[in-house]
Parts: sequence; structure tokens; C-alpha cells
Amino acid sequence: DKGPYRHYMLKEIFEQPAVVAETLEGRIHNGRLLEESFGYETKALLDKTKQVQIIACGTSYHAGMVARYWFEEVGIPCNVEVASEYRYRKTVVAPDTLFVTISQSGETADTLAALRSSRSQGFLGSLVICNVPESSLVRESDVALMTRAGPEIGVASTKAFTTQLVALRLLVLAMARRQGIDEAQLKEWVEELHALPRQMEVVLQLNDAIEKMAEGFADRSNALFLGRGPFYPIAMEGALKLKEISYIHAEAYPAGELKHGPLALVDAEMPVVCALPDDPLLEKVLSNLQEVRARGGELFLFSDKRVKIELDNYQSLTLDDICPTTAPIVYTVPLQLLSYYVALLKGTDVDQPRNLAKSVTVE
Ligand code: F6R
Repeated sequence: DKGPYRHYMLKEIFEQPAVVAETLEGRIHNGRLLEESFGYETKALLDKTKQVQIIACGTSYHAGMVARYWFEEVGIPCNVEVASEYRYRKTVVAPDTLFVTISQSGETADTLAALRSSRSQGFLGSLVICNVPESSLVRESDVALMTRAGPEIGVASTKAFTTQLVALRLLVLAMARRQGIDEAQLKEWVEELHALPRQMEVVLQLNDAIEKMAEGFADRSNALFLGRGPFYPIAMEGALKLKEISYIHAEAYPAGELKHGPLALVDAEMPVVCALPDDPLLEKVLSNLQEVRARGGELFLFSDKRVKIELDNYQSLTLDDICPTTAPIVYTVPLQLLSYYVALLKGTDVDQPRNLAKSVTVE
């Protein structure tokens, strides 16, 4: 039932504050991570983990890419790879590595095959982050950390992605404690997670303004998404959403790679989308955007209220009081809405984009 929404995708975008809160329920309380809720076996596995290998496909892979920044920030080495490449490659597994898969459906053929072959590769064990309790990946992994997004009907993944990020963040916090991160720091990070549903509510109020912004894309056939740090995978996710449902060719680049090639594509016909959180890489990103402007590229920005943008021409929407550790999750929401409204203008089948299936159970 779509309720008052025109498409499942829009309904699922708006469900995010609730399903994120649901995914946190019973797992954090009063600034504390309730690790007991993960279960004894999971805790025992995390106690032994020194590194993490993440495997996933598509949107779930982007969640893994964001998590790599989080894991390494607390001192845990982390590799991330798409399942279809990993499974056919000779790999070298470092001692005490946990094999982590991420999947909404729990049935993705390549991810499942990678899990199966991991068993003979010397991993400590396997953990899956998944949205479907009775799925193959949950049954075949040693332990599971469930997202509680509820059924996702729209083929383009939205609430599954943001709840995967929440589950990954919980995992990172559990590992951070083992790395000896001090309790005051941990408490602050837990509180940032606690504030997330409310921040997502606030960002959803940009809905009408984003619908208007989408008009700038309706007659375009290409778009670039830029980001640095954890906002690079968020740019990849933004580009994937746009191509999946609007059929506009969209590419994401780490902003620093612009002058190594893609800048040649930028002219007045090229919309460039970028999130501008108030983070240490801000000045670098702004100077990349300056290069885009100098070639006439059109900028569509989502920026923190504290950020001063000194560019000659751009469209921007502001986000307020976003916490640093959860910012990639919050900035995902306006990108989802942007794709949705562009697709609506183009008249595509938003919930069932051409050539795609919700669950990819064949290789
Ligand atoms: C994109 C999308 C896909 C899936 C991918 C993996 O919107 O939904 O890229 O993320 O097919 O699926 P799961 O997460 O079910 O393993």
C-alpha cells in the first residue's frame, strides 16, 4: 500500500526516519551502545577481529565504501569490493579478518557465492548485514546484524541503504570500543546516531524545493556527481539512483580526480551535483567546484548552513546542524529525492525501471 504517496520509492524515502529509529531500537540507549543486543556469538567474533573485508553489490557496495572510512578512522583496516570481482580473483586474506557481506535481499547471487567461497579462505568468520531474516545470506553466515527497513518495493534502493549505514555505524562503534577509543568520544558518536532520525525528518522538508531543483535536469542527458572522503561513495549512490530511474547518464568522481580527465566533459550543458558538509575537505571541494564553474558547468549543491559558498553561480539548498559522523547518511536523502523528481519529470516507471530486477539471483 502506497498510502498517500504516488510511488513506493517516495513512500520509502519518507519512511527513513522511522526505519532508522527502528534499526537503532534496543541497540543504543542513553549514549551507550547496547552490545548485548548483538548476541553472544557476534560479540565473540568481534573480540577476535583485527580487520574487515566487506563484499556487496550495487547500492549495498556503496554502503560498504562509506563504512571503510569509518572503520579506518577507529584503526581497523578495511577492504571493500564488489562481489562479482572478488569471487573470481585470487585473494590474500590477512590473519583475523572478518568477512562482512551487505545485502538488502540476502539473495544476491554474486554476494552469496563470495560468502560460500570465503569459507575455505581462512577468514575468522562471516557476518551479514541484511534486511530479510529468512534469506540465504542470513542462513549461511555465522552471524547477522539485521536492518529493520521493512519490505522495500521500489527497485531503486533507498531505506535499505540508509539502514545499512546505520547497522555499519553500530558495528564500527562496537569495534571502536575494542580499539580503546575513550568513552566520552564513544558517547558523542552514539548521540549522533540517536539524533539521526530527527535530522532526516528535517531534511525531508526540502522535498518541495528539491522538486523545483529537479527541473534543471529534465532536458539533460548527462550529470556529474562529485564528493570527497565518505561523500565520494555518497556521490556514487546519487549517480546510481539518477541513472537507474531517470535514465540520465550520471557518473560520480572523487572531486580531486576532476582534472585528471572528467573536466573535459564539463560545459554549460553539464549539471554537477555535490554535497558540501562542513568537514575538513570543504576547501578542497570548493576549489574543485570553482574549476567546474570556470568551464560553465551548472552547480546543484546541498550544503551545511555554516558553509560559505563563494562561487559565481549555483543553486543550493541548506542543511542545518548535521552531525559529522552521520552526515553521509543525512546527505543521501536529498540525492534520493532529486533522482525521484527528475524521473517524475521524465515520466519513467519509477518503481520498476526498465531492465532491472529487485533481487538479482542470477550471476
Ligand atoms: C540499486 C539497487 C541495487 C542493489 C544490488 C544489491 O538501487 O538496489 O544496486 O543494491 O542489486 O542487492 P542486495 O542489497 O539485495 O544484495
